[in-house]
Amino acid sequence: MKRFVIANWKNYVTPAASVKFFDQIVAWMKKEKPDPSVTVILAPSPVALPLIAARLARTHTRTRIMLAAQDVGFAPEGAFTGATSPRDIKLIGAHATLIGHSERRQWFGEDDSLVRKKTVAALHAGLFVVLCVGETKDERQSGRAHDVVRAQLRAVLGDAVVKKNLSRLIIAYEPRFAIGTGIPITPDEAQDMHTLIAREVGERVPILYGGSVVPGNAKSFLTCAHTAGVLVGGASTKFSSLTALIRVAATVTTHTI
Ligand code: PGA
Repeated sequence: MKRFVIANWKNYVTPAASVKFFDQIVAWMKKEKPDPSVTVILAPSPVALPLIAARLARTHTRTRIMLAAQDVGFAPEGAFTGATSPRDIKLIGAHATLIGHSERRQWFGEDDSLVRKKTVAALHAGLFVVLCVGETKDERQSGRAHDVVRAQLRAVLGDAVVKKNLSRLIIAYEPRFAIGTGIPITPDEAQDMHTLIAREVGERVPILYGGSVVPGNAKSFLTCAHTAGVLVGGASTKFSSLTALIRVAATVTTHTI
């Protein structure tokens, strides 16, 4: 079974440090040779992205490394000051983009309709899309978590372009209150939501958990049903914890499944 470790460096790692980090990770992979069924997706800042893309083009490792933008614009070109064109993300050699991350929804006012437009544009451009969904604490406490996540998914999956390109879709379930807080939800809660998501998207679309994942708890999420990986923020910005996470994912692939 394929496994994914997505490293979302947010705005934590400077461009120079991102390039150095990338080189360290590649050197580690060449030495360690983690199981090739693990795909590592690095999502550096938009400024670091082209620098790393240029380096990745000259790199060969047994473990698959993919490169993702953290966000993308909804149109390939035009008068959209400040947006990043999905066409350009593809042209610089990146493979994927996150869309609808809860920080985009929270700080940049992104709603389901914009998330859908971005997803369609990114798929059109030939990118893989990591579609992020997740409820707030209030929504969970009031028993609406399932309804919220189902609605977020249906808003995007209703589009014909998305339906046709499910092979380039990955879902990341990230309850908002678990992101960056050091307090993840329980593996049982994650599995419960992943089961709902699998019902909506089908068994072939990989489903990842995100929200305060660290090397010490990664295995408990990676061994949940309907779980193909983890999306990691804080713990992915340090060499020791990112490599530990990749190791855990590789071990789960080899021995547990
Ligand atoms: P965290 O972030 O691992 O720091 O909680 C996850 C994310 O935002 O994708």
